[in-house]
Amino acid sequence: MYIEYLSLVNFRNYARLELTLPQGPVLLHGANAQGKTSLLEAIYYLATCNSPYTVSDWQMINWQAEQDIIPFARLSADVVTSRSPLERVEITLVQDRNGSDQHTRKDIRLNGVPKRVMDLVGQINVVLFLPRDLSLIEGSPAERRRYMDATLCQTDRAYCESLDTYEKLLPQRNALLRRIGEGQSGLEELAFWDVQLAEHGARLIAGRQRLLRELESIAQHSHLDLTGRREMLEISYQPSFTPTLDGDGQMSFNVRGLDLHRQMEPEEIAPQFLQALEIGREEHVERGMTLLGPHRDELRFQINQRDVGLYGSRGQTRTAILSLKLAELEWMRDCIGEWPILLLDDVVAELDADRRVYLLDRIDGATQSILTTTDPGVFSASFLQKAAVWQVAEGRISTG
Ligand SMILES: Nc1ncnc2c1ncn2[C@@H]1O[C@H](COP(=O)(O)OP(=O)(O)O)[C@@H](O)[C@H]1O
Ligand SMILES: [Mg+2]
Repeated sequence: MYIEYLSLVNFRNYARLELTLPQGPVLLHGANAQGKTSLLEAIYYLATCNSPYTVSDWQMINWQAEQDIIPFARLSADVVTSRSPLERVEITLVQDRNGSDQHTRKDIRLNGVPKRVMDLVGQINVVLFLPRDLSLIEGSPAERRRYMDATLCQTDRAYCESLDTYEKLLPQRNALLRRIGEGQSGLEELAFWDVQLAEHGARLIAGRQRLLRELESIAQHSHLDLTGRREMLEISYQPSFTPTLDGDGQMSFNVRGLDLHRQMEPEEIAPQFLQALEIGREEHVERGMTLLGPHRDELRFQINQRDVGLYGSRGQTRTAILSLKLAELEWMRDCIGEWPILLLDDVVAELDADRRVYLLDRIDGATQSILTTTDPGVFSASFLQKAAVWQVAEGRISTG
């Protein structure tokens, strides 16, 4: 798939941008703080309704627009996919000022028809490479969960719906736990919440298990290639609650990798998850929170059976992440049956010569890839010849 036309109004430092994009590689170059990352962010936002950088949407509205009576930003892309010749995806962010409260309203349209966030799933698929991806190994478990969710949400609407529901159920169950602790509610009231939490949680667990199994088997190949066949990469899913494969009712609460030899289905996991919630009720009431479930899952990376987060060198971490991102790309291609749009923000310059060649070679066949750099000199002459090389300066793009 590829974006044929992109239009931005009041998005970050783009007061107004109208851009026709070609297929193949596009290299955006320019000094720092000119708008390279913002352009990739806009495309990522159109694909996912999420920013990889900011949590509050109003930060994306151009500062100058804040003077306006109703500050807004509008993003719009015409996308061509193998299933449809042209689809227009439009998101308008409108700042609602309610006293000191800043709230952003989102208006989403597909071909002019108002839609919900969920309806965006699968309209534009992207794989984003960032230098910050290293924090997937070095950072907190929450970042790894966000990675799994963001990846699955792009391709699997049912997963996305269950995630949304789970994230609403969890604080409600937690509030009830606290009320029970204070003697204002009874333990039996948990039953209703537990059944739903188990049902949706089981879908998340099954989805994550599937994703990681598939990513691991693809990533292992790249990682062997990149390390002269010396390093075996393993990516293991460690759900906070470990369902057993044979369903014999034996429950283990140890944090250890889930046996990945067989894919478990949500229907097998849900009753076990429910049982674990029931067994845990009293402790959950005591602590005032739900102590197990997908919101506490982990995933670990190992090289030759050693944890990369704990023992990996910087170089090994970098290579593992590159293997993972390339696996994500292959995985998404398999899921959607065509190349997703690739967005590479400042990553090529960070790699050594061998990895650079490997990466550019692996993405060579992409329908559309947009790369940014401050230094086009790190790209080979043959790449520069193939690519559209554009300069970004102060929120303007010169395509000349
Ligand atoms: N809401 C906003 N309105 C206007 N400018 C913004 C907004 N948010 C960020 N910026 C500015 O936009 C500029 C471009 O940032 P960025 O896209 O990250 O640049 P680059 O990737 O080229 O280094 C920066 O100077 C940043 O401070
Ligand atoms: Mg940048």
